[in-house]
Amino acid sequence: MTGMADTAVTMDKIVSLAKRRGFVFQSSEIYGGLSGAWDYGPQGIELKNRIARFWWKEMTQLHDNIVGIDAAILMHPRVWHASGHVENFTDPLVDCKKCKTRFRADQIPPENLAAKKCPECGGELTETRKFNLMFKTTLGPVEDESGLVYLRPETAQGIYVNFKNVQQSNRMKIPFGIAQIGKAFRNEIVTKNFIFRTCEFEQMEMQFFVKPGTDMEWFEYWREQRWNYYQKLGIDMNKLRWHRHGPDELAHYAKDAYDIEFEFPMGFKELEGVHNRSDYDLSRHQQFSGKDLQYIDQDNGNERYIPNIIETSAGLTRQLLMLLCDSYEEQKVADKGNDDDWRTVLHFHPAVAPITVAVLPLMKKDGLAELAQEIRAELKEDFVTDYDQSGAIGRRYRRQDEVGTPFCVTIDYQTKEDSTITIRDRDSMLQERVPRMRISEYIRHKIKDYKRPERRL
Ligand code: GAP
Repeated sequence: MTGMADTAVTMDKIVSLAKRRGFVFQSSEIYGGLSGAWDYGPQGIELKNRIARFWWKEMTQLHDNIVGIDAAILMHPRVWHASGHVENFTDPLVDCKKCKTRFRADQIPPENLAAKKCPECGGELTETRKFNLMFKTTLGPVEDESGLVYLRPETAQGIYVNFKNVQQSNRMKIPFGIAQIGKAFRNEIVTKNFIFRTCEFEQMEMQFFVKPGTDMEWFEYWREQRWNYYQKLGIDMNKLRWHRHGPDELAHYAKDAYDIEFEFPMGFKELEGVHNRSDYDLSRHQQFSGKDLQYIDQDNGNERYIPNIIETSAGLTRQLLMLLCDSYEEQKVADKGNDDDWRTVLHFHPAVAPITVAVLPLMKKDGLAELAQEIRAELKEDFVTDYDQSGAIGRRYRRQDEVGTPFCVTIDYQTKEDSTITIRDRDSMLQERVPRMRISEYIRHKIKDYKRPERRL
């Protein structure tokens, strides 16, 4: 890239970088791909695991009254009757009889819907019909209705059905929460925008059980907590906003609901939902299972009630896309009139970057490579490391910038003399000399104290 450049972040650039640098690949690509499914490469899985860890720590470790579970994807089919998904988890669907394109009826212009006219080719549209988004499969060898099970479309229900198990086994007192991270499946009619909306994805959900009447207070508390989370993650807060659900948008279970929206290259879109689910879920499961799901408040004369639930529901894979978009930058860093003037850099929070530290010997010769390998071996107990000895040092820094590695440790001739190395900061590109013995401590501090810089360079 030379001269004036268009540095706008576009989805095409993100998709291309994600593939080129091993973050995300199309599912079954050699067979032409499968729409709505994506594979996470070496950098992608590290990033995804790290985001999950960041969220898990935030929700469980930093909140004394939240514990985690990992429920099965396959659940008793009655769960989905009780939850309302069999009846209500539908999208309105129309097809064009001419070009065969399929649309969600609520996503095409109302005048087209009224005139039954395809927005793509002008052909005739079918009647709108309801389409249930749950994937079905069968349990056991006979493929009939008796073995029908669903792939869970949300992780939340696995928490509700375990409410009593968790509360009693861990002697939890209301208010308390249960967190879970896991796969969810939805037969989405329209999957587009890369990993934004897919048929297989991951959610990070937390269900917080509260006494009826205190629900609005906790709802506000969790709205604030979730907003602050993104600040901690180092996201550009100007790209986030709240969207309150209007009466026509509220899900069948919701008393009140807000989305946190992020400004993706294709505009502001939902990132996470914070929902006041009232006592809908536990009442329904009590009704459908016949089991008493009331909480007995032993500190208050054994008062019994069905708890209300405040839910925070984030997409893990969608958060990964947000991080790619938010951290992506093309920067002019020199003025020599060639490609080296520019770098593409991902400014991930160092706690979630796929590689934390890259170890780079300035030269391969004179024992520097061996020394660098030794230092890498010391660091890899504590951090995910990379080692790169090929090419000019500037090029190697650029390669690390492109996958968002926050720290590059360079071993040079001085290292041989006084056991110091340089650590280059990805964002400022500044280098500091640090004693070899202090590298881990230095990096740990930097990660702990990280704040998104006002200006990155
Ligand atoms: N338990 C409530 C629930 O599932 P939702 O608004 O349907 O609520 C929550 O989903 C979050 O899950 C969304 O904000 C989004 O981040 C993620 N999500 C939902 N559908 C998705 C899809 N098809 N692909 C990727 N992420 C999705």
